[in-house]
Amino acid sequence: MKFFIYGGSGLVSSKLIEILLSKGHSVIAGSRNPSEQKQEKNLEWVKVEAYEPKEGLNALEKVDAAFLLSPPGYTAQYDILYPLVAKAKELNLKKVVLMTAMGVEFAPPEAPFRKLELALIDSGLHYAILRPNWFMQNFNSFWIEGILKDQNIYFPGGDAVASFIDSRDISATIAEVLTTDRFNNKEFNLTGSEAISHDQVAKLMTDVLGKKINYVDVDPNDFLKSLLSAGLPEDYSNFLLYIAGALREGHASAINENVKKITGKDPILFKNYVKDHKETWIM
Ligand SMILES: NC(=O)c1ccc[n+]([C@@H]2O[C@H](COP(=O)([O-])OP(=O)(O)OC[C@H]3O[C@@H](n4cnc5c(N)ncnc54)[C@H](OP(=O)(O)O)[C@@H]3O)[C@@H](O)[C@H]2O)c1
Repeated sequence: MKFFIYGGSGLVSSKLIEILLSKGHSVIAGSRNPSEQKQEKNLEWVKVEAYEPKEGLNALEKVDAAFLLSPPGYTAQYDILYPLVAKAKELNLKKVVLMTAMGVEFAPPEAPFRKLELALIDSGLHYAILRPNWFMQNFNSFWIEGILKDQNIYFPGGDAVASFIDSRDISATIAEVLTTDRFNNKEFNLTGSEAISHDQVAKLMTDVLGKKINYVDVDPNDFLKSLLSAGLPEDYSNFLLYIAGALREGHASAINENVKKITGKDPILFKNYVKDHKETWIM
């Protein structure tokens, strides 16, 4: 089959593309910088910007199904992605798989991410919606600076536990959902198999890295200031603060078996995620 994949150079999509190509499928991937991306057999890159989906819309004419995610830094998920859903509907694609985030199902229908989910559900297309919990990979990306600089994880999570998920499990799950019809017209929250606090995260990192890593439960206002000073847009920073608050209140703690149900494999444990990314925290 041939698939269109949004945000092809990103964490989830790049691994997804690797899996699809390894299974003999073809991919057209969207990127803001298509010429800078890795060129491979059966992989074509097209230019897709948040509000400029033209080449992505054209790409949909050449594929069987599509995977959509919202680019990081934007809260207008509906405005950015709905044109692709509308085009998929016009073309009657075999399927559109959308990744949002755990908790979006509780958002009011007019909230952009939820509005997008509902538009896809109502489109009449075969669809699947995947809502992952917080990614483990945030610790080697968003929160890495504090870890490298001070050996501290700065996050306003309190002592709440969260069922962090490895993004590689998300990519594997999406690949299954895209390439089989068993999960059509279903919605799945995706979690890891254990729920751990940020203190436990720090302890697991300490054990694996052999260096003391601490968790610092920062004041939510200081967290917001740090996001803004890192250059994140105000609306997106407030969105992150809001979802961090939901984690702190325990709303990211649920564990389910959807990854195993879909991929047949147990989710990656946090300690194994740390082992696999050990070199990123060498200080
Ligand atoms: N991190 C978490 O804990 C978490 C939890 C649940 C859900 N999510 C969801 O996961 C999604 C992000 O997934 P990810 O981490 O795999 O993505 P990512 O690696 O942060 O980025 C995906 C790709 O989006 C492209 N992109 C960036 N800005 C863009 C723009 N202005 N227009 C078009 N494309 C743009 C980039 O590709 P190019 O540079 O090649 O254009 C990037 O590689 C978000 O929708 C977020 O809500 C995240």
